[in-house]
Formats: sequence, structure tokens, C-alpha cells
Amino acid sequence: MPTQYTSATAPGALPLLGHAPAFLHRPLAFVAGLPAHGDLVRLRLGPLDAYVACHPELVRRLLTEDRTYDKGGIVLDKAREVFGDGLATCPAAAHRRQRRMLQPAFHRDRLPGYAALMAEEIAGTTATWRDGDVVDVPAAMYRLTTAVTARCLFAAHERAGSLPVHASMDTIARGVGRRVMLPLPGTDRVPTPENRRFRRARQDLQEITRRLIADYRAAGTDHHDLLSMLLSARDEDGQGLSDAEIHDQVVTFLLAGTEATAATLAWAWTLLATHPAIRDRLHSELDTVLDGRPAHHEDLPALPLTARVVAETLRLYPPSWILSRTVAADAELGGHRVPAGATILYSPYLLHRRADVFTCPDRFDPDRWLTTARPVPGTYAPFGLGARRCIGDAFGTTEAVLAIATIAARWTVVPTPGRRIRPARSASLSPRPFTATLTRRAR
Ligand code: HEM
Repeated sequence: MPTQYTSATAPGALPLLGHAPAFLHRPLAFVAGLPAHGDLVRLRLGPLDAYVACHPELVRRLLTEDRTYDKGGIVLDKAREVFGDGLATCPAAAHRRQRRMLQPAFHRDRLPGYAALMAEEIAGTTATWRDGDVVDVPAAMYRLTTAVTARCLFAAHERAGSLPVHASMDTIARGVGRRVMLPLPGTDRVPTPENRRFRRARQDLQEITRRLIADYRAAGTDHHDLLSMLLSARDEDGQGLSDAEIHDQVVTFLLAGTEATAATLAWAWTLLATHPAIRDRLHSELDTVLDGRPAHHEDLPALPLTARVVAETLRLYPPSWILSRTVAADAELGGHRVPAGATILYSPYLLHRRADVFTCPDRFDPDRWLTTARPVPGTYAPFGLGARRCIGDAFGTTEAVLAIATIAARWTVVPTPGRRIRPARSASLSPRPFTATLTRRAR
């Protein structure tokens, strides 16, 4: 007998506003509570109807049937304003060609080269830190990952790591995050100072990218970086990407690659600070393997606990915590009809907090990955699943492991006492406010 999946409308909808107030007020708790109502739960967010796939198997189907459940819906439509038709936001019809062209840039053989650039940027950034410095941790991690992504994209640029993309990206990332959480149409077009800043930042980033593409085309040299790969990519007909397409991919890599990795690092520091026994074990691994020097690609196999800390941080706080798809044609999901045009949401956060999948799901326990090395598809999805799975998963994980290892080998991140660190209300999970003192470790 096929499994029966339950469906229900979430309780507590208000007239006109539906579930929007509950969703906006306490988004994580609201979403994590939805599986109690069914496997496929219907919501009303103001004028918009949406379904949330709560059961891992329904999430697996949603993400593997990518032509039926295409990119779109309330979260994606806002992101498309910035990412254009880049790989992360393009519809399924354009996706196969793009993914085939871009995949070589993320082939595992290229990772050691990127990792060498990452190690340089991480060492360069941390070299400016002084014992006792008080820093805004998410902002510091964001600066670090921006420098890394910019360096891997534009290695030929003599000061790629310090290109003035950081300020624009920060404004854009926050703007997208806010817009996604405001599903009511039109609010993003009001000329508020924030909306104006957002538009200006978008233009600045477009201008920097346009200039870099023109410089690379004029030089015609392969710099063994991501932009060179984009310029030389060819489809089956020998056709390359246009400048506009390359622009969308560059902006996609810059934003998708930076925000999520920075948030992962920031969460890792809060979790390590509140779990001193795990932090001590991590220090011991790093002292044995690195003896105070920066981490490199060849150290990765010797840093299993650091890798588990990253995996567990991504489980508790998946940066892309809520994502959407749109139903391309009337379909049936888990035995329930979903009409063409409907939005279906999935939430890695919700999946990762399911007590029927993870024992004591709220506990930070990196060692659970000693026995859960291969989770059932649909249960652990910080990078999504299926054809649209993150192309930068190995890139991002490598960067996070190298950054944690290099930093924790020399520094302890001590959160400022008396402040409650909470997830920011945004499309991307990040701990805010989170200031900390950097303390040099005596080994
Ligand atoms: C810890 C770091 C990262 C996390 C947690 C993360 C998460 C994700 C998730 C959840 C998706 C799937 C979205 C969906 O299902 O709608 C995705 C897609 C994507 N990510 Fe990442 N990402 C990370 C790092 C990166 C990096 C470093 C890059 C590039 C340098 C990158 C580029 C992309 C792109 C281009 C896509 C779209 C893939 C496609 O549709 O074919 N990400 N990411």
C-alpha cells in the first residue's frame, strides 16, 4: 500500500492577512511547527496561497521533479530582481544548458586551486586582527567570504580580495532578505531611503562587474579563475555566454557564495562559544594538525572534527532556511492536487529540526555525523537537492572548514556577555547582533 501523506491548512489564519503575521513575527518557530499539522501544509500569506512540503519524501519529490516544480514562487521572484536569469534563479527550460556550461568551473579538480586562494585571503584577513579586538562577527565573516569569492572569481585583478564589491553586496543581500520577508506586492517600489540605497548598490555592482568582464575580454588570457571559466564556457553548439549572461552568473556567484558561507561561519562561532567541551576538542585537533599555522587543502582529511562542526552548524542553522518552487502544470504531490501557479515552499530548517529524523534535534552535536554519514535524501538539505542542488557546495564547505581551522588554531571568539544572539529575520539565517572579542590563544 502506498504511503498516505497528510494535508491540512495551518491553523490561526487571520482575516485578510492569513498566516503572514505569525510568519513574520516568529518565522523559524512558525515554520518548524508546521509538520505537527500535516505532511503538506497550506498557508495564506496576505493575498498569496502557498503550500509547505514538510515531509522529507515530499521535499525529495519536489526537488527532483524540477520541471514540474520549477524555480519561482514568492521567495524566488524577489531574488530574481537581483540575480537576473543566473544559474540560481533561471527557469528549468534554461537551466540544463547553463548548468552543463558552468559545472566544469566547480569540478573537484579545481578545488585545490581555489583552496590556495582561500587560504591566502583567510590568512591575509586574520593577519590584521589584534588581541582584544572587538568585532561584529557576521560583518567580519562577510568581509572574509566576500574577499574569498571575489579572489576566486577575479584572480587576475591585483587587488581582487579588496574590490569595492563588499558594501554593495551587503546592501543588496540585506535588501533581498527584507524583500523576501515582505511578500505583500509593491512595498519594495516605494522610494524609501532603504529602497533607494538598494537600487544604487545594485547599479554599482553591475558597473564593477561590467568593467571586469570588458577587461578580461580585452586581455583574452586564461587566468584559471571563475571569470575565465565563464568566458570560455561553450554549449553543445559551441556557443558561449553573452556579456549579460556572464554578468548574471558573476552576481549570482558573488551573492550566493558569500552570504551563505559567512552566515555558516558566524553560527559556528556562536555554537563553539556556547559548547566549550566541543571547542576544546576542536582546538586539540587543530593543535595536533596545524600547530598554529594556517590550514591548506591538503590538511582537510586530517580535520574530521572541524568538518563535522561545519556539517552540524549547517544542520542547526541552514543559511537558506526557506526556499520556493512554483507548480508549472497541475500536479499531484503525495496524493494531493497542487494547481499550476501555486507556490510550494520547502525549509531545510524545518527538516533539520524534525525529532523523528534527528535525535534531540536542537542539540549541537557534531558527533552525530559519525553515525549519520549518509542521511536519507530529503532529511538533510542545507544545499538543496536534485538538479538545482548548490553548485558551490564543495567550494563553500572547503572555505568554511579552512576558515574555522585557521581562525580557531590561533583565536578564540568570545561573545560580548549579556547579549542574546538571535537569528535575524531575513531570507538568510544569520546571528545578529553578535559582537565578540578576539582573544589570541596561548598554546
Ligand atoms: C555554506 C555555503 C552554501 C550554502 C548553505 C548554500 C546553499 C544553497 C542552496 C540551499 C541552494 C539550492 C536553492 C534551491 O533549492 O532553490 C543553492 C544553490 C546555488 N548555490 Fe549555494 N550555498 C552555499 C555556497 C555557495 C557557493 C560558495 C556558491 C558559488 C561560489 C554557491 C552558488 C550557488 C548557485 C549558483 C546555486 C544554484 C544552482 C542551480 O540552480 O543549479 N553557493 N545553494
